[in-house]
Amino acid sequence: MSVAAERLHATKREAARRLTAQLRGTSPPDWAPGPAVQEAAAYTDPVRHAAELKTLFRETPLVACLSGDLAGPGSFRRFDEAGVPIVIVRNRQGAVRAFVNICSHRGARVVEEAQGNAHRFTCHFHGWTFGADGQLVGIPQKDGFAGCAQGRGLTPLPAAERHGLVFVQATPASPQDFAARVDALLGNFAPELAMLELEGAEQVKNGVLPVAANWKYALDTYGEGYHFAALHRDTIAPHFRADVQVYDRFGPHHRVTWAAKPMTAWLDQPEVSWDVDSMIGWVHFIFPNTILFTGSVQPGRGYITLFRHFPGAAPGETKTYKSIYAPAGIHSDEQRAEIEAAFDATAYVVVNEDYMVAAEGWANLATLPAGATVVYGRQEVAVQHFHMEFAAAIGVPAPWPVESVPATEAAAA
Ligand code: FES
Ligand SMILES: [Fe+2]
Repeated sequence: MSVAAERLHATKREAARRLTAQLRGTSPPDWAPGPAVQEAAAYTDPVRHAAELKTLFRETPLVACLSGDLAGPGSFRRFDEAGVPIVIVRNRQGAVRAFVNICSHRGARVVEEAQGNAHRFTCHFHGWTFGADGQLVGIPQKDGFAGCAQGRGLTPLPAAERHGLVFVQATPASPQDFAARVDALLGNFAPELAMLELEGAEQVKNGVLPVAANWKYALDTYGEGYHFAALHRDTIAPHFRADVQVYDRFGPHHRVTWAAKPMTAWLDQPEVSWDVDSMIGWVHFIFPNTILFTGSVQPGRGYITLFRHFPGAAPGETKTYKSIYAPAGIHSDEQRAEIEAAFDATAYVVVNEDYMVAAEGWANLATLPAGATVVYGRQEVAVQHFHMEFAAAIGVPAPWPVESVPATEAAAA
């Protein structure tokens, strides 16, 4: 067993101890100290939305894909989700590079395919050709462009690979500054991600799940189990306890898990017999928009699923880019079929339950008068955390404790 795998096992065992202590009633659940209130406008205000687009999506390192999605030298894939056309390539030396996918001649898209393998890219407008390191290597009828080639390579954007995750930023920064920024952003979450050994993950299936709601409203559904009993009555609630959760914060990131119902049998069994490796699945939040799920809606199965949430131009438009991976590679047709089925099962729940109510709830919030609020309960601790971090990042007031709500409103609560 690798050092990372041993650490993963030990961390899962510790989470299992905390879950069983809650199941026994000897330990309280990991809840927030109190409820918190936020103005509904946080989800609907176009001015705030513009600030989030700029700060959180253009000027922050974002997870573009896993390392396995750029499997070898020459692998490339487009990354347009942040609102700027970008192409990410793995060069001959194995390093990941990113470029603005806009031709330096007159602006056409250089790379048209969603993904592939190539060491040169030729623009489909007039045929300018660029190498995998962005340099301009060919101009048809070049006599007509004498003196123009200098400085006409593709515009580089910062990219860095950490623990099997590829981070890209849609605004320029020096490679050194960006590497330091990614390391500072990950902080003490880095070892928690490293132990997952994401470098070995191989993609099985992907898709885009649109939702007519604010991106934060969609993201909230990945942060609380409070909605399992009512919204997921027939899909998740039969398998998971919503009131028993282990929640850990790592700077702006977090990790949360809920007790699978079969774990109640552990209360009568010695700890060595607990199957923590397959029963503990985590929902990791990588700031600002990525959910990395290492479990399944069926207890006892562990896959790697990325949910990357990207806002549209308006506050009520979101697309979730979802991709599922075999954690240590695809080994058989049966395994591939099983993981494809897991993708479909989770997508069904997300689209038909979470996003159905997200669209309804967001549209309702948009009709409320100025000053109307929503409230996050103690058990919605991860949701409170999302909103505190987003508010801090763009410099607006964070959700506030319920004790500070004006007396008349508090009395009605
Ligand atoms: S715009 Fe690309 S070659 Fe002219
Ligand atoms: Fe849900």
